Amino acid sequence: MLLGVNIDHVATLRNARGELEPSVLEAAKICVNAGVHGITAHLREDRRHITDYDVFSLRNDVNCRLNLEMAATYEMKKIALELMPDACCIVPEKREEVTTEGGLDVYSQKGKITEFVKPLIDAGIKVSLFINPEREQVSAASETGVEFIELHTGAFSRAFGTKNEEPEFIKLRQATSLAHLLGLKVNAGHGLNYKNVHKMHEIDGIVELNIGHSIISRAVFVGLDTAVREMISLIYKN
Ligand code: PXP
Repeated sequence: MLLGVNIDHVATLRNARGELEPSVLEAAKICVNAGVHGITAHLREDRRHITDYDVFSLRNDVNCRLNLEMAATYEMKKIALELMPDACCIVPEKREEVTTEGGLDVYSQKGKITEFVKPLIDAGIKVSLFINPEREQVSAASETGVEFIELHTGAFSRAFGTKNEEPEFIKLRQATSLAHLLGLKVNAGHGLNYKNVHKMHEIDGIVELNIGHSIISRAVFVGLDTAVREMISLIYKN
């Protein structure tokens, strides 16, 4: 498995002061130097952390695979087609949420999503849909033309260490198997941390994990380079 580091929280910290530190670009360079596969950044409609300037600087000044997380809006599509990230992950977005709370409902908006992703795919961007590990969402995603899904691991992460861990884990495993049967590649992320990430090795064929909060939190104590290297050592073992 590969690691994409979500660096939104570096921007959250920077924006708390409205000044320039810590630098998102510098953070990305440290992650790349530590050996990550990619950098992930979520350009939210309200620009609460990552800004347009950040994503264009990441594209132009960091030699790394860039995964742009974004909502399925006209504005974001326009930015993505100008930015040309290597990958785009389409996420649901609500203004009042603290973080991406649930997966995209592809099942009930299959036509709209299919139409939305087409120009991105035609432009050569690898598109993934961030979905809950549910049968109908995986099947619907397979009919939109995307190459990837990213499974929302938030419910599993919250349940980790409780009696609900196993049922949540099984949902991820079954969703992954179904996705593979339907020809989709599978990424996963949300809420993964140093304690629960090992479970992802028990699911065959996950390509990439996107992890942000736990790595940036650990970086406060040990530094970003060490925090990233520690996560890599837990992920890149097979
Ligand atoms: N993947 C997606 C699609 C996300 O929206 C997020 C959160 O921004 C993550 C992964 C990373 O989640 P976390 O910060 O909990 O590791």
